[in-house]
Amino acid sequence: MSKSYILAIDTSCDDSSAAVVAERTVYSNIIASQNHQQYGGVFPTVAKAEHKKNLQPVIEEALATAGVTWNELAAVAVTQGPGLAPALEVGITVAKQLAVEHQLPLIAVNHLAGHALSPLAKPALQSAEPADHSFAAEISELEFPFLSIVVSGGHTEFILVNSIGEYQRLGFTVDDAAGEALDKFGRLIGLPYPAGPAIEAFASRGNPHKYEFPLPMTTSGNFNLSFAGLKTSAKNSVEKMTQTNSAATPLTDQQKIDLCASFQFAVFRAITYKLKKIQTEYHFSTIFLGGGVACNLALRAAITEATGLPLFVPYSKKLCVDNAAMIGLVAGWQLAAGQLLNTPDQIAKIERLPDWEIDLD
Ligand code: KG4
Ligand code: ZN
Repeated sequence: MSKSYILAIDTSCDDSSAAVVAERTVYSNIIASQNHQQYGGVFPTVAKAEHKKNLQPVIEEALATAGVTWNELAAVAVTQGPGLAPALEVGITVAKQLAVEHQLPLIAVNHLAGHALSPLAKPALQSAEPADHSFAAEISELEFPFLSIVVSGGHTEFILVNSIGEYQRLGFTVDDAAGEALDKFGRLIGLPYPAGPAIEAFASRGNPHKYEFPLPMTTSGNFNLSFAGLKTSAKNSVEKMTQTNSAATPLTDQQKIDLCASFQFAVFRAITYKLKKIQTEYHFSTIFLGGGVACNLALRAAITEATGLPLFVPYSKKLCVDNAAMIGLVAGWQLAAGQLLNTPDQIAKIERLPDWEIDLD
């Protein structure tokens, strides 16, 4: 039987991505990243214009890399939400056109489901991208429920996966995402955007207890997170450190290293604090971690230490950050379950859902 290749597209934020996936195997995963360095964050109208320019070549490259032709595809999949509305719009418009033009069904996917299940993706044998992390590819029978933690620049959520397609959001950030907090902190001390990787590198050499940051949301009575207070606290600390005798003095390298270690520690402690609370109320025996911040080795170690449970992460950094392969992975299950749009009329009705929560249809 021929493989059910899916062409997947993600334009939820600032990366234009296309991938070819069949069930759990990734044949290509192309990402064109935008440079929003000058804005210190993602600027929606710029993101939209860049997607319009980049998406078509990215799609062609995804098909060429996989060596798959339009005739061999079983479906086109696209991220419907959540994400930046103008950015989502570009991917959805292109996916609709391609599905109709090539008479393929369209599969609309939740971006967070992609991150939540991303550790399940397996690299194709001929993949040029080596599998550099532990990943869930060897799981032959998934044990439900498992807890998936999504930690990215746009989201920070605890998701109980009762079965593929049946999700329960147990907690989420009420303000900034963890990656966003790291990026804002990085900007404060002059690191390039996105700051996560540089913070991790500095933090590995610093003292996490040198500067005290608060542990937020301890009395909230729920599993939600908040990172805005940490950012304010860091801003105050840096201001105090750089104001001596009313003249501004730059931070020393050692101060930066210790600030990174202490701030990163505080962000991850906030996550593991709520994680341990979840563990006392819900039963699960495996943890998945997805999203850009999942690249961070200190976060992985903190989660393993806090829970004592096996942790599965995506097989590559590309599968942690925003990418279309994880969308194709989820679409594979939806294809098998018949959750697809077949006629041009059905396809035309698909619209972006910028605030789509993972457990709400
Ligand atoms: O998943 P992603 O592409 O985010 C969204 O677009 O939502 O991930 C990007 C985020 C950024 O905030 C970046 O700073 C963070 O992931 N990140 C990291 C690391 N690598 C990327 N954070 C901490 N440590 C890392 N090694
Ligand atoms: Zn994302």
